Amino acid sequence: MSQLWGGRFSGKTDPIMEKFNASLPFDKRMWQADITGSQAYAKALALSKIITEAERDTLVEGLARVGKEWENGTFDIKPSDEDIHTANERRLGELVGSVAGKLHTGRSRNDQVATDMRLWLREEATRLLSYLKELIAVAVSRAETEIDVIMPGYTHLQRAQPIRWSHWLLAYAWSWHADAERLSQLINRINQLPLGSGALAGNPFNVDREFIASELGFSHIMPNSLYGVSDRDFVAEFLFWSSMTMIHLSRFSEDLIIYSSAEFGFVQLADAYSTGSSLMPQKKNPDSLELIRGKSGRAFGDLAGFLMTLKGLPSTYNKDLQEDKEPMFDAAETLSGCLQISTGVLTSLTIKADKMRAALSIDMLATDVAEYLVRKGVPFRETHHVAGYAVKMAEDRNCQMSDLTLADFKSLHPAFEADVVKIWNFEQSVDNRNALGGTSRPTVERQISILKKWLGTS
Ligand code: ARG
Repeated sequence: MSQLWGGRFSGKTDPIMEKFNASLPFDKRMWQADITGSQAYAKALALSKIITEAERDTLVEGLARVGKEWENGTFDIKPSDEDIHTANERRLGELVGSVAGKLHTGRSRNDQVATDMRLWLREEATRLLSYLKELIAVAVSRAETEIDVIMPGYTHLQRAQPIRWSHWLLAYAWSWHADAERLSQLINRINQLPLGSGALAGNPFNVDREFIASELGFSHIMPNSLYGVSDRDFVAEFLFWSSMTMIHLSRFSEDLIIYSSAEFGFVQLADAYSTGSSLMPQKKNPDSLELIRGKSGRAFGDLAGFLMTLKGLPSTYNKDLQEDKEPMFDAAETLSGCLQISTGVLTSLTIKADKMRAALSIDMLATDVAEYLVRKGVPFRETHHVAGYAVKMAEDRNCQMSDLTLADFKSLHPAFEADVVKIWNFEQSVDNRNALGGTSRPTVERQISILKKWLGTS
């Protein structure tokens, strides 16, 4: 009987069922976590005097040899290997003999798999956090060097008010900063030990769970064995984090796709992140960004699918939970690719400051006209109308607002004076927005300095 649970069964498993049941094709990527978790457990068994120190050493070393086989790509998968846990234990037995059969004492795959998942995701999330920080660092450093560049800011994708290009960059940097904060908080919640929960009711050999936690670097121990084997909130949260982060990356991509079109021409993607057309020789397509936008759908699907899996599960372990892995792996892989590509795109992006400036139009200073009158003591509701009349007057005469004379302005409101010409200055418009969080130079610099401090680069 090659299956670990073979004793109770007399009938053979349907070969299709065997394949259907198996998770090794995807959970083998947790081989390292499984080895590390088992080594810690072997040490705990020795501390509980369930195995001798010599047996412990045999198990720990044997497990290391199994790990080496995975590492070197020489691990020979057998058809009976159901999942990474059974595969490793089967191979351990072949390498060290019957003592391998002592490793699983008091342990279940239920607490084992929950532990492996947490170990795997903790490492992966930590790597994703570093990718996210690299992306933020690029945005912040460009924001610093390109602070003089002014571009149109949009609402409803209609030209609204002039803003600094840096302010646009930092808007995304702040979203990613929130993603990074969420991820570090999540890493703390991932970092709890389920091992020692047994199948559901707890461990009968009084294994020292605090010892296991410290061996595996867990900061907390899951305080209830039923909860320990059944909780997958950390996976759902990770999938939500992935979805939220993909929303930010997708919107960032969408902006850049629009800005890179000939109609805008604000930015140009590096060749390294573009592709050509097989038919139209002139084409340079922003495929990298389109793929990010497209892949966001996968992340949302991973989240929605897994929430459906969890809903309605009775307590503790149910095989449905094996469905936690593929969405988790898929989301981690998707985010790893999208974050690194975003960093590459942003690092190598060329900006066309002259095009951005040329896209600024005097009508975008209409709000400034209203604000000019406010500073002369006129109530804003009134100034908004007056500025609207000025826009219309220029439109009717087919000229710019800045072409209107002082007499024209005075005909709209007596508070206009000769200094009205000072309004036609995009830099000044931008620098007027100097309350905290605005697009003025000092308030953009302030954002840069906060983010640099957070990144540890200032
Ligand atoms: N491959 C299984 C999973 O991923 C391991 C746990 C199996 N436990 C069990 N009682 N059948 O969930």
